[in-house]
Amino acid sequence: MADSQPPRSPAHDPNAAINTARPGVHARPPGVRIIASGIAVPEKTLTNSDLEKIMDTSDEWIVQRTGIRNRHIHDPQKGDSVSGLATEALRNALQDAGMVPDDLDLIVVATMTPESPTPSVACRVTTKLGVRNIGAFDLNAACSGFVYALNTVFGLMATGAYRNIALIGADTITQHVEYSTYGRGSAVLFGDAAGAVILQRTDDPMPGLLAHILHSDGPGSKDLYVPTDERTLPEGVEYNPRHVNRVQMHGPAVFRFAVGTFPKLIEETLEHAGLQAADVDYYICHQSNVRILKAAQERFGLEDRQFPINIDRYGNTVAASVPLVFHELRQGGKIQPGQRVMFLGFGAGLTWASSLWQL
Ligand code: COA
Repeated sequence: MADSQPPRSPAHDPNAAINTARPGVHARPPGVRIIASGIAVPEKTLTNSDLEKIMDTSDEWIVQRTGIRNRHIHDPQKGDSVSGLATEALRNALQDAGMVPDDLDLIVVATMTPESPTPSVACRVTTKLGVRNIGAFDLNAACSGFVYALNTVFGLMATGAYRNIALIGADTITQHVEYSTYGRGSAVLFGDAAGAVILQRTDDPMPGLLAHILHSDGPGSKDLYVPTDERTLPEGVEYNPRHVNRVQMHGPAVFRFAVGTFPKLIEETLEHAGLQAADVDYYICHQSNVRILKAAQERFGLEDRQFPINIDRYGNTVAASVPLVFHELRQGGKIQPGQRVMFLGFGAGLTWASSLWQL
């Protein structure tokens, strides 16, 4: 195994001196492996041609501007729920790991669409799995949620207090879109899903987080938000009851934010880790728009295989999109120990984050 690994820069030596002057660079605590993954998507699908029938849009417009062809949509009438999807994804990950729910010490769910303010989705998952007494909490950083949570969970693992943690990204964002010509600007983008991974502490110090970055821009939320009433509108925005509980997005402004931020985030993360773009095997990115992803890929001269894209089949699934891509790579046998993988997210909040791992 060691023979096939790329040469390591000093930043990967667990015994190397720690440069505390650089945020995002870590001392190397006990290693952490991502040992398993699983996903769940609702049965119901919505293709571009289905959308053409319910709003003024076209397959050509959607594919050209976003790269999306299909999405899965939860159906509450059939009992679909965000915690249901999260539980199914975790069950699949547990099966992948050969583990049972009682093997877990903690469940963390990244989501911005809990069924209710409380209980959290994570607590609902414990109920569905029939486990008691373990830790469970939700984390909301919208489309960056899974990446924010990966960094958080690694920090918890580094304390040595946890052996197995389940991390799930799950959202049913389509409850916040309007399927009409009025809502078409965002309705065509989103889908529902959940993706889970299991992280396990290991005595091998090599696998784990190499660098991480968390960012936010609160005032930037004026370009992407979900108001719940008149008091939750960005400053200067006129109240419209039709907007309540619906995603409000200024598409071109969010596009500019993402296209500008995404390459900077990659550069910053590589710099913290002392690596070049080509040293990273996979960039596992939040799937928001194929044009945003391709712009970043081209900027760094990366090959298609290093920048996996599945937005065509799922749309933008918020916190689920990153684990969805990771799982598909694992299933395809492409994820191997020793590889370096950069997880990247950006979205509402505004938030953006990276998590660079050595697997
Ligand atoms: N079908 C057909 N036409 C549509 C449409 C749709 N679904 N949605 C908007 N349009 C129309 C607009 O009404 C506008 O028409 P007009 O010129 O007659 O006013 C025209 O298409 C252009 O709209 P615009 O919003 O400027 O399009 P765009 O090229 O910026 O593409 C997005 C829109 C949403 C695809 C693009 O801005 C985007 O991807 N932004 C980022 C969104 C994102 O990633 N959000 C999640 C972040 S996590």
